[in-house]
Amino acid sequence: MIERIEEIEVEAVADVGAADSTAALEEARVRYLGRKGELTSILRGIAEIEPSRLGAVGAAANHTRKTIEALIDERLEALEAAELEASLVEDRIDVTLPGSPARAVGHLHPITRTRRLIEDVMIGLGYQVMEGPEIEHDFYNFTALNHPEDHPARMLQDTFYVDVSGPVEVEGEGPRDVLLRTHTSPMQVRAMEAEPPPIFMIVPGKTYRRDSDATHSPMFHQVEGLAVGEGITLADLKGTLLAMLREIFGPDRQIRMRPHFFPFTEPSVEFDVSCFRCDGTGNLPDGARCGLCKGIGWIELGGAGMVDPNVFGFVSESGYDPDSVTGFAFGFGIERIAMLRHGVGDLRLFFDNDVRLLEQFS
Ligand code: DAH
Repeated sequence: MIERIEEIEVEAVADVGAADSTAALEEARVRYLGRKGELTSILRGIAEIEPSRLGAVGAAANHTRKTIEALIDERLEALEAAELEASLVEDRIDVTLPGSPARAVGHLHPITRTRRLIEDVMIGLGYQVMEGPEIEHDFYNFTALNHPEDHPARMLQDTFYVDVSGPVEVEGEGPRDVLLRTHTSPMQVRAMEAEPPPIFMIVPGKTYRRDSDATHSPMFHQVEGLAVGEGITLADLKGTLLAMLREIFGPDRQIRMRPHFFPFTEPSVEFDVSCFRCDGTGNLPDGARCGLCKGIGWIELGGAGMVDPNVFGFVSESGYDPDSVTGFAFGFGIERIAMLRHGVGDLRLFFDNDVRLLEQFS
């Protein structure tokens, strides 16, 4: 019996030494130490051994079991360390590899950037920025801006009317009472309705007209300006426009105002900025005619004027009394400013969303 126990030990030493994985080692452990293992059954049957040999057999079997247990523990530790090492090598992540291609970071649209530039300049001059509805009542778009019904000036802004005869009937609204605003000027009246004088505000936003060519699009952006208070004059308008346009087009710019007509300002002007390419001379250094201002030296930008007392008449309840306050208003297109600043020849390019164009403004 003791011989057999010694044989088992020799076999176990060989098998444990040969186990090349923790799974193979576990098989060996079950074989030698498991419940069905030979050594276990010897130990279990020890009671039946004759008393004189009991001590020696028991001691040998226990010694062998302990030896095998210690061997297995030792081997297990070595195999586990080797397997961990192998899995670390196999699962290795090479952090030095380049990641998936970096995503290009987007940027603001040139029209948005131009709008923000104008806002920054005007906020710096103490103006507040307001927004108004793009779907507007005829009343604000025309009537309260001193365009009486059937006034020919309405024809200048061929308009998109909104059909309000749909499922929800709007009381008192006829087929031509609601429209896509043709300019940002309606906010002059809405702002004065909302706040008493003095008021200094600009309104950037989308406007709509039935117009489409290289310099007009059915949707475009305008900035409206309004300043009302005591003692405001046309000279203040000129100084304000000059300060704004010098920020946008450079410190050497000049402006000029030409008489014009707008129903809601009196007197009314159109204002021009001196050409920043030829420095207002109309000619380039090589003597050629300046293509930007077409040799005129001035670039037309927008309309302006002193708020017509008739407009104040629509907001007299908010404290706008033409005998005590005066004001100026101006309006111009954001696309035009962006086209000039960036040398974009066709306004429609801004709305094609072609990244080859947009990328150039990053
Ligand atoms: N709303 C005018 C247009 O779209 C521009 C304009 C002219 C605005 C004179 C003004 C102004 O505030 O005083 O053609």
